[in-house]
Amino acid sequence: MLQPSARLKNLPPYFFSVIGDRIRQMQSEKIKVYRLDIGNPDMPPPSAVIESLATSASNPKNHGYNSYRGTPAFRRAMAKHYQRRFGVALDPDVEILPLLGSKEGIVNITLAHLSKGDIALIPDIGYPAYAMGTRLAEAEIHWVRLDPTDGYRPMLDEIPMDILNRAKVLWINYPNNPTGAMITLEDYNRIANFCQKHNILLISDNPYMDVLFDGATAPSALQADADRNYIVEFFSFSKSYNMAGWRLGAALGSKGAIDNLLAVKSNIDSAHFTPIYDAGITALDTPQDWLDERNAIYQQRRDKIMSILPKIGLSADIPMGSLYVWAKVLDGDATAYVESALTNAHVSLAPGGAYGPGGEGYVRFSVGVEDNELAEALDALVSWYNKR
Ligand SMILES: Cc1ncc(COP(=O)(O)O)c(C=O)c1O
Repeated sequence: MLQPSARLKNLPPYFFSVIGDRIRQMQSEKIKVYRLDIGNPDMPPPSAVIESLATSASNPKNHGYNSYRGTPAFRRAMAKHYQRRFGVALDPDVEILPLLGSKEGIVNITLAHLSKGDIALIPDIGYPAYAMGTRLAEAEIHWVRLDPTDGYRPMLDEIPMDILNRAKVLWINYPNNPTGAMITLEDYNRIANFCQKHNILLISDNPYMDVLFDGATAPSALQADADRNYIVEFFSFSKSYNMAGWRLGAALGSKGAIDNLLAVKSNIDSAHFTPIYDAGITALDTPQDWLDERNAIYQQRRDKIMSILPKIGLSADIPMGSLYVWAKVLDGDATAYVESALTNAHVSLAPGGAYGPGGEGYVRFSVGVEDNELAEALDALVSWYNKR
Protein backbone atom coordinates (compact mmCIF):
# COMPACT_ATOMS: atom_id res chain seq x y z
CA MET A 1 0.00 0.00 0.00
CA LEU A 2 1.45 3.39 -1.03
CA GLN A 3 1.97 5.79 1.86
CA PRO A 4 1.84 9.56 1.34
CA SER A 5 4.49 11.76 2.95
CA ALA A 6 4.02 13.02 6.51
CA ARG A 7 3.61 16.45 4.91
CA LEU A 8 0.64 15.24 2.90
CA LYS A 9 -0.91 13.40 5.83
CA ASN A 10 -0.93 16.76 7.62
CA LEU A 11 -2.96 18.32 4.83
CA PRO A 12 -6.76 18.29 5.01
CA PRO A 13 -8.50 17.82 1.66
CA TYR A 14 -8.91 21.06 -0.35
CA PHE A 15 -12.56 22.05 0.00
CA PHE A 16 -13.14 23.04 -3.64
CA SER A 17 -11.59 19.81 -4.87
CA VAL A 18 -13.88 17.72 -2.64
CA ILE A 19 -17.01 19.67 -3.50
CA GLY A 20 -16.09 19.54 -7.20
CA ASP A 21 -16.05 15.71 -7.06
CA ARG A 22 -19.39 15.66 -5.26
CA ILE A 23 -20.96 17.99 -7.84
CA ARG A 24 -19.61 15.95 -10.75
CA GLN A 25 -21.24 12.89 -9.16
CA MET A 26 -24.59 14.74 -8.93
CA GLN A 27 -24.23 15.91 -12.55
CA SER A 28 -23.60 12.33 -13.66
CA GLU A 29 -27.01 11.55 -12.12
CA LYS A 30 -28.46 14.27 -14.42
CA ILE A 31 -28.95 16.77 -11.57
CA LYS A 32 -28.41 20.41 -12.51
CA VAL A 33 -26.25 21.99 -9.81
CA TYR A 34 -25.86 25.78 -9.42
CA ARG A 35 -22.30 26.64 -8.40
CA LEU A 36 -22.45 29.69 -6.18
CA ASP A 37 -19.56 28.34 -4.12
CA ILE A 38 -16.59 29.20 -6.32
CA GLY A 39 -15.15 32.55 -7.42
CA ASN A 40 -14.83 31.64 -11.07
CA PRO A 41 -15.61 34.63 -13.35
CA ASP A 42 -18.34 33.60 -15.80
CA MET A 43 -17.65 36.28 -18.42
CA PRO A 44 -14.81 36.25 -20.99
CA PRO A 45 -11.71 38.46 -20.96
CA PRO A 46 -11.58 41.56 -23.21
CA SER A 47 -11.55 40.42 -26.86
CA ALA A 48 -8.19 42.19 -27.46
CA VAL A 49 -6.62 39.75 -24.98
CA ILE A 50 -7.79 36.73 -26.97
CA GLU A 51 -6.65 38.30 -30.25
CA SER A 52 -3.26 38.97 -28.71
CA LEU A 53 -2.93 35.34 -27.64
CA ALA A 54 -3.78 34.14 -31.16
CA THR A 55 -1.37 36.56 -32.85
CA SER A 56 1.47 35.66 -30.54
CA ALA A 57 0.78 31.91 -30.83
CA SER A 58 1.02 32.14 -34.63
CA ASN A 59 4.62 33.34 -34.33
CA PRO A 60 6.84 30.23 -34.73
CA LYS A 61 9.45 31.79 -32.45
CA ASN A 62 7.12 31.91 -29.46
CA HIS A 63 6.94 28.23 -28.54
CA GLY A 64 10.11 27.54 -26.61
CA TYR A 65 11.03 27.83 -22.94
CA ASN A 66 11.19 31.27 -21.41
CA SER A 67 13.59 32.60 -18.80
CA TYR A 68 12.51 31.65 -15.25
CA ARG A 69 11.73 35.33 -14.80
CA GLY A 70 9.31 35.31 -17.77
CA THR A 71 9.66 37.81 -20.61
CA PRO A 72 11.23 41.24 -19.97
CA ALA A 73 8.32 42.80 -21.89
CA PHE A 74 5.80 41.33 -19.44
CA ARG A 75 7.76 42.50 -16.41
CA ARG A 76 8.11 45.98 -17.91
CA ALA A 77 4.34 46.10 -18.58
CA MET A 78 3.64 45.14 -14.94
CA ALA A 79 6.01 47.89 -13.76
CA LYS A 80 4.25 50.41 -16.00
CA HIS A 81 0.87 49.27 -14.67
CA TYR A 82 1.88 49.79 -11.02
CA GLN A 83 3.42 53.17 -11.85
CA ARG A 84 0.26 54.30 -13.66
CA ARG A 85 -2.23 52.80 -11.23
CA PHE A 86 -0.54 53.40 -7.86
CA GLY A 87 2.42 55.71 -8.53
CA VAL A 88 4.71 52.90 -7.36
CA ALA A 89 8.08 52.58 -9.17
CA LEU A 90 9.34 48.98 -9.44
CA ASP A 91 12.50 47.66 -11.05
CA PRO A 92 11.19 45.14 -13.63
CA ASP A 93 14.43 43.12 -13.50
CA VAL A 94 14.49 42.34 -9.78
CA GLU A 95 11.23 43.48 -8.18
CA ILE A 96 8.74 41.67 -10.44
CA LEU A 97 8.31 37.94 -11.04
CA PRO A 98 5.53 36.40 -13.14
CA LEU A 99 3.50 33.60 -11.54
CA LEU A 100 1.45 30.73 -12.92
CA GLY A 101 -1.55 32.25 -11.13
CA SER A 102 -1.21 33.64 -7.64
CA LYS A 103 -2.13 30.36 -5.91
CA GLU A 104 1.15 28.89 -7.11
CA GLY A 105 2.99 31.93 -5.73
CA ILE A 106 1.17 31.68 -2.40
CA VAL A 107 2.37 28.13 -1.77
CA ASN A 108 5.86 28.60 -3.21
CA ILE A 109 6.61 31.82 -1.30
CA THR A 110 5.63 29.94 1.84
CA LEU A 111 8.02 27.09 1.00
CA ALA A 112 10.67 29.74 0.34
CA HIS A 113 10.36 31.39 3.77
CA LEU A 114 9.07 28.90 6.33
CA SER A 115 10.61 25.82 7.92
CA LYS A 116 9.50 23.53 10.72
CA GLY A 117 9.06 25.59 13.89
CA ASP A 118 8.38 28.85 12.01
CA ILE A 119 5.03 30.57 12.16
CA ALA A 120 2.82 32.11 9.48
CA LEU A 121 0.37 34.76 10.62
CA ILE A 122 -2.80 33.97 8.71
CA PRO A 123 -6.07 35.91 8.74
CA ASP A 124 -8.98 34.11 10.31
CA ILE A 125 -10.91 34.18 7.94
CA GLY A 126 -9.08 34.01 4.60
CA TYR A 127 -8.29 32.23 1.34
CA PRO A 128 -7.46 28.59 2.27
CA ALA A 129 -4.15 28.37 0.34
CA TYR A 130 -2.31 30.47 2.99
CA ALA A 131 -2.93 27.76 5.59
CA MET A 132 -2.49 24.87 3.15
CA GLY A 133 0.90 26.21 1.98
CA THR A 134 1.96 26.58 5.62
CA ARG A 135 1.02 22.97 6.31
CA LEU A 136 2.94 21.83 3.22
CA ALA A 137 5.98 23.70 4.58
CA GLU A 138 5.44 21.85 7.91
CA ALA A 139 5.36 25.23 9.64
CA GLU A 140 2.75 26.44 12.13
CA ILE A 141 -0.33 28.59 11.65
CA HIS A 142 -1.20 31.41 14.01
CA TRP A 143 -4.67 32.70 13.19
CA VAL A 144 -4.98 36.49 13.28
CA ARG A 145 -8.51 37.58 14.13
CA LEU A 146 -10.26 39.86 11.64
CA ASP A 147 -12.65 42.06 13.58
CA PRO A 148 -16.07 42.36 11.88
CA THR A 149 -16.82 45.41 14.03
CA ASP A 150 -13.67 47.09 12.68
CA GLY A 151 -14.11 46.44 8.96
CA TYR A 152 -12.42 43.02 9.14
CA ARG A 153 -9.01 44.60 9.83
CA PRO A 154 -6.38 42.24 11.29
CA MET A 155 -6.09 42.52 15.08
CA LEU A 156 -2.29 42.74 15.18
CA ASP A 157 -2.22 43.89 18.82
CA GLU A 158 -3.64 40.54 19.89
CA ILE A 159 -0.62 38.57 18.60
CA PRO A 160 1.55 37.46 21.57
CA MET A 161 5.23 38.47 21.53
CA ASP A 162 6.51 34.85 21.57
CA ILE A 163 4.46 34.21 18.40
CA LEU A 164 5.80 37.38 16.76
CA ASN A 165 9.36 36.25 17.49
CA ARG A 166 8.82 33.05 15.48
CA ALA A 167 6.62 34.56 12.75
CA LYS A 168 8.13 34.88 9.27
CA VAL A 169 5.20 36.09 7.19
CA LEU A 170 1.89 37.91 7.61
CA TRP A 171 -0.82 37.39 5.00
CA ILE A 172 -3.41 40.05 4.19
CA ASN A 173 -5.99 40.33 1.39
CA TYR A 174 -8.11 43.44 0.61
CA PRO A 175 -10.58 43.67 -1.11
CA ASN A 176 -11.11 40.62 1.04
CA ASN A 177 -12.12 37.09 0.19
CA PRO A 178 -14.53 36.09 1.71
CA THR A 179 -15.93 39.25 3.36
CA GLY A 180 -15.64 41.86 0.58
CA ALA A 181 -14.08 44.29 3.11
CA MET A 182 -11.58 46.99 2.06
CA ILE A 183 -8.80 48.80 3.87
CA THR A 184 -7.15 52.19 3.33
CA LEU A 185 -3.58 53.28 2.65
CA GLU A 186 -3.33 54.29 6.33
CA ASP A 187 -4.10 50.66 7.24
CA TYR A 188 -1.41 49.43 4.86
CA ASN A 189 1.05 51.91 6.44
CA ARG A 190 0.26 50.62 9.92
CA ILE A 191 0.45 46.93 8.94
CA ALA A 192 3.64 47.30 6.88
CA ASN A 193 5.42 49.25 9.64
CA PHE A 194 4.35 46.58 12.14
CA CYS A 195 5.92 43.92 9.90
CA GLN A 196 9.12 45.89 9.43
CA LYS A 197 9.42 46.41 13.20
CA HIS A 198 9.06 42.67 13.84
CA ASN A 199 11.15 41.50 10.87
CA ILE A 200 8.18 39.81 9.19
CA LEU A 201 7.47 39.68 5.46
CA LEU A 202 4.09 41.26 4.67
CA ILE A 203 2.41 39.41 1.81
CA SER A 204 -0.51 41.31 0.36
CA ASP A 205 -2.52 38.91 -1.77
CA ASN A 206 -4.44 41.33 -3.95
CA PRO A 207 -6.41 39.56 -6.72
CA TYR A 208 -9.56 41.67 -6.25
CA MET A 209 -8.00 45.13 -6.64
CA ASP A 210 -10.03 45.60 -9.84
CA VAL A 211 -13.30 44.07 -8.63
CA LEU A 212 -14.86 47.04 -6.89
CA PHE A 213 -18.40 48.24 -6.20
CA ASP A 214 -20.12 51.57 -5.55
CA GLY A 215 -17.20 53.60 -6.92
CA ALA A 216 -14.71 52.21 -4.39
CA THR A 217 -10.96 52.42 -5.11
CA ALA A 218 -8.35 49.98 -3.80
CA PRO A 219 -4.83 50.97 -2.76
CA SER A 220 -1.78 48.70 -2.99
CA ALA A 221 0.36 47.54 -0.06
CA LEU A 222 3.37 48.70 -2.09
CA GLN A 223 2.23 52.30 -1.56
CA ALA A 224 2.89 51.91 2.19
CA ASP A 225 5.58 54.08 3.76
CA ALA A 226 7.58 51.14 5.18
CA ASP A 227 10.79 49.58 3.78
CA ARG A 228 9.96 47.83 0.47
CA ASN A 229 12.13 44.84 1.48
CA TYR A 230 9.38 43.79 3.89
CA ILE A 231 6.49 43.92 1.42
CA VAL A 232 5.47 41.74 -1.48
CA GLU A 233 2.17 41.92 -3.34
CA PHE A 234 0.52 39.34 -5.58
CA PHE A 235 -1.35 40.54 -8.65
CA SER A 236 -3.67 38.16 -10.51
CA PHE A 237 -5.15 38.30 -14.00
CA SER A 238 -7.82 35.77 -12.93
CA LYS A 239 -10.33 38.20 -11.46
CA SER A 240 -9.02 41.53 -12.83
CA TYR A 241 -9.55 40.44 -16.44
CA ASN A 242 -11.69 37.26 -16.21
CA MET A 243 -8.64 35.09 -17.04
CA ALA A 244 -8.86 32.50 -14.25
CA GLY A 245 -8.06 29.54 -16.49
CA TRP A 246 -5.06 31.25 -18.07
CA ARG A 247 -3.04 30.97 -14.86
CA LEU A 248 -1.21 34.28 -14.94
CA GLY A 249 -0.16 36.49 -12.05
CA ALA A 250 2.85 38.35 -10.70
CA ALA A 251 4.73 38.89 -7.45
CA LEU A 252 5.89 42.48 -6.95
CA GLY A 253 8.00 44.25 -4.35
CA SER A 254 10.72 42.95 -2.01
CA LYS A 255 13.77 41.92 -4.05
CA GLY A 256 14.81 39.48 -1.31
CA ALA A 257 11.42 37.77 -1.19
CA ILE A 258 11.31 37.57 -4.99
CA ASP A 259 14.80 36.04 -5.13
CA ASN A 260 13.74 33.41 -2.58
CA LEU A 261 10.51 32.70 -4.45
CA LEU A 262 12.43 32.35 -7.72
CA ALA A 263 14.87 29.93 -6.06
CA VAL A 264 11.94 27.61 -5.28
CA LYS A 265 10.08 28.16 -8.56
CA SER A 266 13.09 27.57 -10.77
CA ASN A 267 13.14 24.02 -9.38
CA ILE A 268 9.43 23.49 -9.97
CA ASP A 269 8.23 25.25 -13.12
CA SER A 270 9.83 26.61 -16.25
CA ALA A 271 7.89 29.86 -16.58
CA HIS A 272 4.90 30.42 -18.87
CA PHE A 273 4.07 30.32 -22.58
CA THR A 274 5.10 33.56 -24.38
CA PRO A 275 1.61 34.15 -25.89
CA ILE A 276 0.13 34.10 -22.35
CA TYR A 277 2.59 36.81 -21.30
CA ASP A 278 1.78 38.77 -24.46
CA ALA A 279 -1.95 38.48 -23.80
CA GLY A 280 -1.28 39.63 -20.22
CA ILE A 281 0.47 42.75 -21.53
CA THR A 282 -2.62 43.50 -23.64
CA ALA A 283 -4.89 42.89 -20.63
CA LEU A 284 -3.02 45.51 -18.58
CA ASP A 285 -4.06 48.12 -21.18
CA THR A 286 -7.77 47.29 -20.76
CA PRO A 287 -9.77 50.54 -20.70
CA GLN A 288 -11.34 51.45 -17.35
CA ASP A 289 -14.79 51.38 -19.05
CA TRP A 290 -14.49 47.64 -19.55
CA LEU A 291 -13.76 47.12 -15.85
CA ASP A 292 -16.59 49.48 -14.85
CA GLU A 293 -19.13 47.67 -17.02
CA ARG A 294 -18.04 44.26 -15.75
CA ASN A 295 -18.15 45.46 -12.14
CA ALA A 296 -21.62 46.94 -12.66
CA ILE A 297 -22.84 43.47 -13.63
CA TYR A 298 -21.26 41.95 -10.52
CA GLN A 299 -22.77 44.73 -8.43
CA GLN A 300 -26.29 44.02 -9.71
CA ARG A 301 -25.82 40.37 -8.83
CA ARG A 302 -24.51 41.31 -5.40
CA ASP A 303 -27.65 43.40 -4.86
CA LYS A 304 -29.87 40.53 -6.02
CA ILE A 305 -28.22 38.19 -3.52
CA MET A 306 -28.43 40.79 -0.72
CA SER A 307 -32.17 41.25 -1.37
CA ILE A 308 -32.85 37.52 -1.09
CA LEU A 309 -30.90 36.89 2.15
CA PRO A 310 -33.72 37.75 4.59
CA LYS A 311 -35.94 35.19 2.81
CA ILE A 312 -33.44 32.38 3.35
CA GLY A 313 -32.39 32.90 6.95
CA LEU A 314 -29.17 34.84 6.28
CA SER A 315 -27.81 38.34 6.82
CA ALA A 316 -24.70 40.10 5.47
CA ASP A 317 -22.83 43.39 5.36
CA ILE A 318 -22.71 44.90 1.86
CA PRO A 319 -19.38 43.92 0.24
CA MET A 320 -17.36 46.78 -1.26
CA GLY A 321 -15.30 44.59 -3.58
CA SER A 322 -14.28 40.99 -4.40
CA LEU A 323 -16.61 38.41 -5.90
CA TYR A 324 -18.44 37.45 -2.72
CA VAL A 325 -21.26 37.93 -0.27
CA TRP A 326 -20.34 36.65 3.20
CA ALA A 327 -23.57 35.78 4.97
CA LYS A 328 -24.32 34.76 8.56
CA VAL A 329 -26.65 31.80 9.12
CA LEU A 330 -29.16 33.24 11.59
CA ASP A 331 -30.52 29.97 12.90
CA GLY A 332 -28.67 26.64 13.08
CA ASP A 333 -25.43 25.25 11.79
CA ALA A 334 -23.80 26.64 8.60
CA THR A 335 -22.36 23.31 7.45
CA ALA A 336 -25.80 21.71 7.75
CA TYR A 337 -27.26 24.71 5.88
CA VAL A 338 -24.79 24.27 3.00
CA GLU A 339 -25.36 20.52 2.92
CA SER A 340 -29.13 20.87 2.81
CA ALA A 341 -28.99 23.63 0.15
CA LEU A 342 -26.88 21.36 -2.06
CA THR A 343 -28.91 18.21 -1.52
CA ASN A 344 -32.37 19.77 -1.68
CA ALA A 345 -32.06 22.99 -3.74
CA HIS A 346 -29.07 21.82 -5.81
CA VAL A 347 -27.32 25.08 -5.01
CA SER A 348 -23.71 24.82 -3.92
CA LEU A 349 -22.55 27.46 -1.41
CA ALA A 350 -19.16 27.58 0.30
CA PRO A 351 -19.27 26.81 4.05
CA GLY A 352 -17.60 29.54 6.13
CA GLY A 353 -15.49 27.01 8.05
CA ALA A 354 -13.41 26.44 4.87
CA TYR A 355 -11.93 29.94 5.45
CA GLY A 356 -10.68 29.34 9.00
CA PRO A 357 -12.16 28.68 12.43
CA GLY A 358 -13.72 32.17 12.54
CA GLY A 359 -15.80 31.33 9.47
CA GLU A 360 -18.02 28.84 11.32
CA GLY A 361 -21.60 30.05 11.17
CA TYR A 362 -21.24 31.74 7.76
CA VAL A 363 -21.73 30.82 4.12
CA ARG A 364 -20.20 32.45 1.04
CA PHE A 365 -21.97 33.30 -2.22
CA SER A 366 -20.11 34.07 -5.45
CA VAL A 367 -21.31 36.71 -7.93
CA GLY A 368 -19.36 35.03 -10.76
CA VAL A 369 -22.53 33.31 -11.96
CA GLU A 370 -24.45 34.18 -15.14
CA ASP A 371 -27.61 36.27 -14.48
CA ASN A 372 -30.25 33.66 -15.41
CA GLU A 373 -28.40 30.91 -13.55
CA LEU A 374 -28.17 33.15 -10.50
CA ALA A 375 -31.88 34.00 -10.65
CA GLU A 376 -32.79 30.28 -10.90
CA ALA A 377 -30.43 29.41 -8.05
CA LEU A 378 -31.86 32.11 -5.78
CA ASP A 379 -35.44 30.98 -6.58
CA ALA A 380 -34.43 27.41 -5.76
CA LEU A 381 -32.97 28.54 -2.43
CA VAL A 382 -36.14 30.47 -1.50
CA SER A 383 -38.46 27.56 -2.26
CA TRP A 384 -36.15 25.08 -0.45
CA TYR A 385 -35.98 27.35 2.61
CA ASN A 386 -39.78 27.80 2.71
CA LYS A 387 -40.30 24.02 2.69
CA ARG A 388 -37.84 23.30 5.52
C1 LIG B 1 -7.76 35.77 -2.12
C2 LIG B 1 -7.36 34.91 -3.26
N1 LIG B 1 -6.06 34.77 -3.53
C3 LIG B 1 -5.63 34.02 -4.57
C4 LIG B 1 -6.53 33.36 -5.37
C5 LIG B 1 -6.00 32.51 -6.48
O1 LIG B 1 -6.03 33.22 -7.66
P1 LIG B 1 -5.24 32.74 -8.96
O2 LIG B 1 -6.27 32.35 -9.95
O3 LIG B 1 -4.42 33.92 -9.39
O4 LIG B 1 -4.37 31.59 -8.55
C6 LIG B 1 -7.91 33.46 -5.11
C7 LIG B 1 -8.87 32.72 -5.93
O5 LIG B 1 -10.03 32.65 -5.69
C8 LIG B 1 -8.33 34.26 -4.04
O6 LIG B 1 -9.61 34.41 -3.72
